[in-house]
Amino acid sequence: MAGLDGFTSPLDLPMYVVTTAAPDGERAGCLVGFASQSSIDPPRFVVWLSRANHTYEVACRATHLTVHLIGPEHRAAARLFGEETGDAVDKFARVDWWPGEAGSPVLAHCLGWFTGTVEARLDGGDHVGFLLAPVAEGPSEEPRSADGGRPRLFLLSDAADFSPGHPA
Ligand SMILES: Cc1cc2nc3c(=O)[nH]c(=O)nc-3n(C[C@H](O)[C@H](O)[C@H](O)COP(=O)(O)O)c2cc1C
Repeated sequence: MAGLDGFTSPLDLPMYVVTTAAPDGERAGCLVGFASQSSIDPPRFVVWLSRANHTYEVACRATHLTVHLIGPEHRAAARLFGEETGDAVDKFARVDWWPGEAGSPVLAHCLGWFTGTVEARLDGGDHVGFLLAPVAEGPSEEPRSADGGRPRLFLLSDAADFSPGHPA
């Protein structure tokens, strides 16, 4: 059977921090590389969550997810959300955040974010796609780049030494 390693190995994906909160108030979040806009009109975005993650379990009960863009300056948060698991630690005790739509945590320090309602869940294999319809978005509190151009994003290559909190 053919694989995908050869095809995907040149890709240097942007990394996102995806957060959510269940109706009972339980919060969760993890580092995500599998994510993409999926529609222009209407605007839609899909994030793929591993069934093994604490975030997946909470997201299945949640109505909203928040997706954060991060840069190299947010490396500590990337490591926290990518290497620790909410099964064992409270990640939200270690970062600044506020409760957004439906309590979905919005990180205070990021390049930008949006919150979306979960319109559908898509079986992708060991990951499940959460199709998001944006209902709120926010700019960064931080400057973009000095020349007003696109900020440098935190990429898969920046996380090369990370050990995921859960195996996929
Ligand atoms: C570089 C990198 C990319 C990752 N991409 C994803 C992803 O696309 N989807 C996902 O669910 N987990 C992904 N993970 C794994 C989770 O971020 C990680 O297992 C995290 O510790 C899970 O936390 P949780 O159990 O609190 O949800 C990635 C981890 C790393 C280091």
